[in-house]
Amino acid sequence: MSAKEWRVVNPDGSNRVIVTKELPGQRWLDILLAADCRLEICTSPDILSAGDIKEAMGPSCNGAIGQLTEDWGDELFGALKAAGGTAYSNYAVGFNNVDLAAASRHGIPVGNTPGVLTEATAEMCVALAFAAARRVPEADVFMRGGQYNGWLPTLLLGELFHGKTVGVIGMGRIGLSFAKMMASACHMNVMYYDPHCKLPVAEYFMALSRFFITQGEGPITCTCCDSLQQLCEGSDLISINTILNDETHHLVDAQALSWMKENAVFINAARGPVMDEAALVAHAKSHPGFKAGLDVFEDEPAMKPGLSECRNIVMVPHIASATVYSREGMATLAASNVAGMLQGFPAWNKADISGFLEGDFPKYAASVVNANEVGYPTAG
Ligand code: DGY
Repeated sequence: MSAKEWRVVNPDGSNRVIVTKELPGQRWLDILLAADCRLEICTSPDILSAGDIKEAMGPSCNGAIGQLTEDWGDELFGALKAAGGTAYSNYAVGFNNVDLAAASRHGIPVGNTPGVLTEATAEMCVALAFAAARRVPEADVFMRGGQYNGWLPTLLLGELFHGKTVGVIGMGRIGLSFAKMMASACHMNVMYYDPHCKLPVAEYFMALSRFFITQGEGPITCTCCDSLQQLCEGSDLISINTILNDETHHLVDAQALSWMKENAVFINAARGPVMDEAALVAHAKSHPGFKAGLDVFEDEPAMKPGLSECRNIVMVPHIASATVYSREGMATLAASNVAGMLQGFPAWNKADISGFLEGDFPKYAASVVNANEVGYPTAG
């Protein structure tokens, strides 16, 4: 075991599984114990290096649950394979920290945790949007600093979303959930920029528009944009909800920021490197009416120079999925992935993962992202 501290659960279990961080809840433990696993759980909050993890795997290790803060590439999948490992799950829905090609080359299936953090992440986008638009952290500091000397017509003016346009970059599960929240709560028009224009998305917002009309309110629109420029120029609230890959790296750069309205509100709760954070700092400094809410950072946990001085940017430390439901659910899905892989169960890989969260443990690995590449069987 590495110098970092690890605790052992079920020392006599026949499948040795390392878990690189403490996870919340009990069900995930029960799932792995039912699969006869000996668990070694790192109790240190420090981010583990590949060396730490390799040392913890040792010469014999059947599976691992890793974190988005760790670099799961050729070195670790090679070591896992050499240790006899056949199972890996990320404790996250995103897997930009995983080199899928390397995992597949070593024949290791890779699990992730979709479906339990969609609404939590979308709700954080909403929280950041309002916190930034209405200057909530600034107002809180103002109150605590004893600066409130009486109501004033011009005190801490912010932005109204009602009746304006929300622009979503990446109309996947989280982006759609966020757009639904903003459109239904604030009667916002929707724009989105995505590789695919999606009929069900258009149908949803057209149905909502018809409902608004029956209530005597005006219609809303839904536009699938041809370009990022169209979205940036047309939206009042812009949210990154896309995955990070080579195509989306620095998608929101100085140019994209220059297309945004002077008083736009920009949110990123996806992955830091989808935005050029240095360009964002420069833009926020030169555009006092611009506002942003960030959950993720390009060099996490570090911030780019000058970011912490921008009072028009609200920040939280990558906690968009940090609800008890989501984080326990992620643990359950990650455990179901590893336990399912170790027991030879097929991959579920369907959107409805509710069966994993309570009751009997399904005889499936919840979500295997490289099932095709490694020839992993999938539920019919
Ligand atoms: C994920 O699961 O990818 C999230 O970023 C965790 O909050």
